[in-house]
Amino acid sequence: MRHPSTAAIRLADYRPADFVIDSVELDFSLNPTKTKVVARLALRRNPAGEAGAPLVLDGDDLTLIGVRLDGRALGPQDYAATPDKLTLAAVPDAPFVLEIETQVDPSANTQLSGLYRSGSAYCTQCEAEGFRRITYFLDRPDVLSVYTTRIEAEKSDAPILLSNGNPVESGDIDGGTRHYAIWRDPFPKPSYLFALVGGDLGVVRDAFKTMSGRLVDLAIYVEHGKEPRAGYAMDALKRSMRWDEEKFGREYDLDVFNIVAVSDFNMGAMENKGLNIFNDKYVLASPETATDGDYAGIEGVIAHEYFHNWTGNRITCRDWFQLCLKEGLTVFRDQEFSADMRSRAVERISDVRGLRLAQFPEDAGPLAHPVRPDVYQEINNFYTATVYEKGAEIIRALRTLIGEDDFRRGMDLYFERFDGAAATVEDFLSCFAEASGRDLSHFALWYSQAGTPLVTTSEEYDAAAKTFTLTLRQETPPTPGQSEKRPVVIPIALALFSENGQKLDLASEDASARELARGLIELDRPERVIRFRDIPSRPVASLLRGFSAPVRLEPAPASEDLERLLAHDDDPFNRWQAAQSLALRAIFARVNGDGAASDARGLTDALRLLLAKAEGDPAFAAQALSLPSEIDLAREKGSDVDPDVLFAARQSLRAEIGRALGEALETIHARFADPGAYAPDAASAGRRALRNVALDLIAAGDADKGRALAQAQFETAGNMTDRLAALATLAHLGGAAREDAFARFYAQYAGDALVIDKWFSLQATIPEEATTRRVQELMTHPEFSMSNPNRVRALISAFANANLTRFHALDGSGYDLLTRVVLELDPKNPQLSARLLSSLRSWRTLEARRRELVETRLKHILAAENLSADLRDIATRALG
Ligand code: ARG
Ligand code: ZN
Repeated sequence: MRHPSTAAIRLADYRPADFVIDSVELDFSLNPTKTKVVARLALRRNPAGEAGAPLVLDGDDLTLIGVRLDGRALGPQDYAATPDKLTLAAVPDAPFVLEIETQVDPSANTQLSGLYRSGSAYCTQCEAEGFRRITYFLDRPDVLSVYTTRIEAEKSDAPILLSNGNPVESGDIDGGTRHYAIWRDPFPKPSYLFALVGGDLGVVRDAFKTMSGRLVDLAIYVEHGKEPRAGYAMDALKRSMRWDEEKFGREYDLDVFNIVAVSDFNMGAMENKGLNIFNDKYVLASPETATDGDYAGIEGVIAHEYFHNWTGNRITCRDWFQLCLKEGLTVFRDQEFSADMRSRAVERISDVRGLRLAQFPEDAGPLAHPVRPDVYQEINNFYTATVYEKGAEIIRALRTLIGEDDFRRGMDLYFERFDGAAATVEDFLSCFAEASGRDLSHFALWYSQAGTPLVTTSEEYDAAAKTFTLTLRQETPPTPGQSEKRPVVIPIALALFSENGQKLDLASEDASARELARGLIELDRPERVIRFRDIPSRPVASLLRGFSAPVRLEPAPASEDLERLLAHDDDPFNRWQAAQSLALRAIFARVNGDGAASDARGLTDALRLLLAKAEGDPAFAAQALSLPSEIDLAREKGSDVDPDVLFAARQSLRAEIGRALGEALETIHARFADPGAYAPDAASAGRRALRNVALDLIAAGDADKGRALAQAQFETAGNMTDRLAALATLAHLGGAAREDAFARFYAQYAGDALVIDKWFSLQATIPEEATTRRVQELMTHPEFSMSNPNRVRALISAFANANLTRFHALDGSGYDLLTRVVLELDPKNPQLSARLLSSLRSWRTLEARRRELVETRLKHILAAENLSADLRDIATRALG
């Protein structure tokens, strides 16, 4: 167990390690409760470290068996050992070999960090600080070593033995009841990239020929019987390998690339060198069990982990403050990959949706932190939407600013210059500064300043002078620990359209030639006023095209302008944004009780036009028809949020759209029925998405009609996407039809954990009073388990993050449920309990009664005994 420490770790305190570990030889004897680990470390003093310093190795919950130095057994007088530290006060100045034997209990490891069991398999998770739960080590990312790993086990217990790198040797021992395998990874790596797997697993094999003609053996290991469900992941892997060669010139570097899917995993997946370990949710798919969203998720995560081989592994992070160096960059790369594999416009829209759903609220609340934090209590709490998603947005903004060519040159320089190194954000930026010839020191502020900048605009047209004046101002609200904010460099892509939708030439004395030619204003100060000339009539401005920077933009244009943009803008993101802005306006008109009916007519007319042309791009039409979520509404409201009021207003608009577009929606629903066999490609998925958004709106406008259509679709669906969409619609309509559908769904998929997770989630998100009780009952369901993170997320996170009216119920029952689960979970799996409690990241924006309810619960949690460092950190900061 991690001991709650109060010592904050600071970026400013970074100093190099006092020792270098050139090579590591690990010897594992796998045993369910008593796994023996021998680590032979070739150590020497680091010239950059402190001369004569003692050797202090990190540990966590370790049982030490013995220590040898250069072959000589050490006695207790030679070292000081605790479960979390091994100190040798006096070690040689010449290089030496330290041999450490520890014993660990994988079966008792419920934190899923270090060496643990998932089902009957052994597996590891070492990022961020799990390696120290296996052996004493300099467990920090700037200590790079070459690893050789020998694994020994009962053959019946673990016929498959895997580690990083290439297989070297394997064989039988003890007359064939036991066996061993030796793996060697020639690339120096930090300990967080170490991995080991042992178990009885099925495998799917393939091969990939790299750009230089080397053949790489690919394998995906899954639970026996699940092999047919790994085909899409394998396909995605090969496409990722090809894409990284074509787009970034990056070739794979080992003889094998292995992926193992396990069912107990805290995160999505892990990029261990040559041996990626995955949450099976991001590997397994079949048309009968996975939705289009699942397929897209698998493609994205397989790519993400593969891309880490260069951005993360070959070039790693100097310290954990630099986490965004690998995560933001790798998210940027996987988003680009998905954009190339699917629809660029739809990918951009869904990435921004995701950013606004998770990162914007984080950045606006008590858990806000810079993309590169400068202090942490518990690093596991910084695997956040800010580090990942805002980290990716900054890189996209950088590319927008310097242009594609300089960006690619900068990436090449980065790979060339920092290969094999543990780098920093400054190292990364220096490559782009050099490639573009620009000073990026101001741009770097994006990494250290938290909070979402608010850009406010005002426009003025002078008909006599034929000028259009655009004023852009920026301001970043204060965040915890940062009350004063400076202006950042915000690239604002823009276009001006004439009334009939013609794009106008940009001419102005207030912007540089480069800005005008590229349609990109660089807002790098508090305010800029740009007067465009030769504008024949009042134009419509399309601003922040493609979401060119992670900022909020206000105010939204006038409704007639939004309708024009929705009809004419050649930037698909801003067309979608126009639909969202119109919907937001209509919903808030209802919230504020002003002019509701007239407000929505413009929107429904615009959507009707869109539906008529939906055939051309159904996926886009589906996105445009998807109203802002309740979380979007809460964020827009900003303070004094009453989730019930927002929910009611949103429902009322959905019903109005459903009624106004009823026939058009029914036509779409009928016409876009899957023609034949399921295919997971983006075009087919887009048709299904549109059809299912239509179904949902039909049901909102006419419950009986919706129920009949949903029931029929539920019966006849040939794939999980359509079946689950029908079930979701029925779930919201209620009544006997809902209960019947849930029962039949369960009967059909009982025992198929990943499918039953969907069944848990849908029930947890029913916006009705009885749901809280229902969730409590489901927690006693035989297929639910508090030890499995996927189950907990499917039921509890879904309730807390996607059922706002029930979670924020005024009797406090939703908060009580979360509190109980978090406290029950914490001793077992602190990473998961801390993550769950982050569902309260926006609590300060609630109205007063709910705020008080939350505050009591947070204080109650903090008062509990033996809180993990992880949970204490989140609760403390949340109360802040
Ligand atoms: N590096 C992994 C990924 O982004 C995630 C590891 C998360 N680990 C953690 N302890 N939170 O693919
Ligand atoms: Zn990652």
